[in-house]
Amino acid sequence: MASNSLAVINCSQLVTLAGPARPRVGPELCALSIVNQGAMLITGQRIAQVGSLAEIDSLIGADCEVVDAGGRMVMPGFVDAHTHPVFDGTRAGEFEERAGGATYQEIAARGGGIQSTVRTTREATLADLVTAGKRYSNWFLRTGTTTVEAKSGYGLTLEDELKILRAIKQLDRETALRYVPTFLGAHDIPAEYKARREHYVSLLIDEMLPRVAEEKLAEYCDVFCESNVFSTDESWKILSAARCHGLGLRMHADQLSLSGGAKLAAELGAVTADHLEHTDAEGIAALHSAGVQPVLLPGSVYALGSSRYPPAREMIDAGLAVVLATDFNPGSSPTPAMTMILSLASTHLKMSPAESVTSATINAAYSLGRGDQIGSLEPGKLADFVIHDCSDYRELAYFFGIEHPWKVFAGGTLVSHSRN
Ligand code: NIG
Ligand code: FE
Repeated sequence: MASNSLAVINCSQLVTLAGPARPRVGPELCALSIVNQGAMLITGQRIAQVGSLAEIDSLIGADCEVVDAGGRMVMPGFVDAHTHPVFDGTRAGEFEERAGGATYQEIAARGGGIQSTVRTTREATLADLVTAGKRYSNWFLRTGTTTVEAKSGYGLTLEDELKILRAIKQLDRETALRYVPTFLGAHDIPAEYKARREHYVSLLIDEMLPRVAEEKLAEYCDVFCESNVFSTDESWKILSAARCHGLGLRMHADQLSLSGGAKLAAELGAVTADHLEHTDAEGIAALHSAGVQPVLLPGSVYALGSSRYPPAREMIDAGLAVVLATDFNPGSSPTPAMTMILSLASTHLKMSPAESVTSATINAAYSLGRGDQIGSLEPGKLADFVIHDCSDYRELAYFFGIEHPWKVFAGGTLVSHSRN
């Protein structure tokens, strides 16, 4: 019979992120609580003990399975708190056009961009979306991510949005990756509503949100608040309705222009405001006073060929509990790899490797309401961890463009193993 306990030994660094039971701010972002030459004991799906090998050794029973990390670095699985992982097709053609000088907004204005993925995703069946989603699920796991927040938003009709949220639910059940679902019916005004946009806002509020809430298909609601997409007034209406249905609030805010998104997120008491490339000092102060976590997405800035990165240092200095995420999607950020985001955070956001690791694990977990379950390696938490093929956590961002994970575990079970 398989043993119910697992010991991980011989970790050059066991990066635990142990600390206060809340998101980390200021200098706390650098406190990784590393145990050198550490070891960890797991019982069932959860962590039982963490410490030095000398402390753990005597607890390892005869029937305990032992994983020798071989002097590698061990840390929590990444928690990717902003992704759009359910869609059909790619936009490699638009990528080529952008390389030739076209901008994301120009492509969107002529019916490409989000609308082009909406057309293909509407054609796809639930089974098609699950098949595509499983491929991406493997990408997340093999790059060291064990939980993703997953948005709908490429359906934009009641049935197509429900289809995407059901696909997310199925992916959560049938893959080892954990999914936290978010309803993003307000990702764009669908082409057929462009001349009567107020009807689409009513459809979102009167039909889609009640169904999503009734079927318990989402924990959060998000809106793309941006000029030419949803105005701050429309965003306020949609998010206020979502709150009445018990959904937490997230927002795409100030991504392409200073549209007032950060201030609105603060006014509404949103859990997160995401992107924030154009947010100013007033917006940062508003986020701070309302306790909104900023989710920074440098992958989309990079992939759009822009140089306008979000003001991360100002946010950290202001005491915000910063989160880093991929924004994985077929348009602005086609990467599932959190290590690439860590690299961009150090080179472009001027975040230290330690600040980046905290933002990509425990802070992200709190932004998803799961800070008590995942995001750090502490007794009682789910054993979601990664043995990376390096000895120092700083190498994750330093050696970029390679896959670092050697073995990935979710709930104490091996879910991805590289042949390194
Ligand atoms: O976060 N800004 C809106 N949504 C996505 C892009 C989605 C797409 O281009 O398909 C983002 O960048
Ligand atoms: Fe996004």
